[in-house]
Amino acid sequence: MQSNKFMNTVNPTTTLLSVRNLFKKYQTKAGETVDALTHIHVDLMDGEFVSILGPSGCGKTTLLKILAGIVHHSSGEVMFKGQAISDSKNVMGVVFQSPVLLPWLTVLENVLLPIRVLGMNRTEYLASAISLIELVGLDGFENKYPNELSGGMQQRVSIVRALIHDPGILLMDEPFGALDSLTRERMNSELQKIWMVKKKTVFFITHSISEAVFLSDRVLVMSARPGKIIEEIRIDFPRPRHIDLTSTQEFGDIAKHLRGCLGSYEAGQE
Ligand SMILES: Nc1ncnc2c1ncn2[C@@H]1O[C@H](COP(=O)(O)OP(=O)(O)OP(=O)(O)O)[C@@H](O)[C@H]1O
Ligand SMILES: [Mg+2]
Repeated sequence: MQSNKFMNTVNPTTTLLSVRNLFKKYQTKAGETVDALTHIHVDLMDGEFVSILGPSGCGKTTLLKILAGIVHHSSGEVMFKGQAISDSKNVMGVVFQSPVLLPWLTVLENVLLPIRVLGMNRTEYLASAISLIELVGLDGFENKYPNELSGGMQQRVSIVRALIHDPGILLMDEPFGALDSLTRERMNSELQKIWMVKKKTVFFITHSISEAVFLSDRVLVMSARPGKIIEEIRIDFPRPRHIDLTSTQEFGDIAKHLRGCLGSYEAGQE
């Protein structure tokens, strides 16, 4: 029988995040206007894992930064549970390509950093920090410093750090892009496990078609800049998914379709 930790406690019919007709224009220092995003519509359902694929410079990071409250959008709406987001830091956990851990803090203190920043009670989150560190297989490393960890271990710390305040949504911007392919495969399985245990809604940016198909419930494809969503496909493989899935015909057919959507840009990437 499947253990309780894999039971879905979320409501997949509830829209958690909705992005409506979002536009973003940047003003460059030279005074030009850059149209980064146009007509973006995205809905994230509660507990859903959604990936975004798109050519470099199409606005993926811009979209993630808008959701994270790091960048303002030019027009349109971003709603969380039907309401405008007043404080993104509370609602979103963010993982970037590079782990950006503070080198003078231990693993445990890095994980607890958002609690400090958000002025929450450290003692209340200590047990949860320790159990999250264990969940990603880093028990025993709580008192190590970032430079004593491998790249994959550091990225696991940054994922745990993004989850510590129990955000509504986990935003991930190419979190495994800097890792070697074997470590990346392991991290994909690791992330699947975290997702199945925590049942977090995840918005995941990647350049890897197979990573997107392996991890997601839905994959969205963006056009070249100004970015808009040009394709959306549902991925129905049952979970937990094993890495061998990536060698099946069905998986290959979906990857091929996505590669076609991305055009010649992605053709030589994987
Ligand atoms: N602060 C900024 N000022 C002006 N233009 C910007 C700024 N940030 C991003 N841009 C431009 O907006 C566009 C989208 O950039 P963004 O970083 O969102 O792309 P991306 O899809 O994440 O690319 P990549 O896959 O290479 O990470 C690019 O043309 C970029 O040059
Ligand atoms: Mg980017």
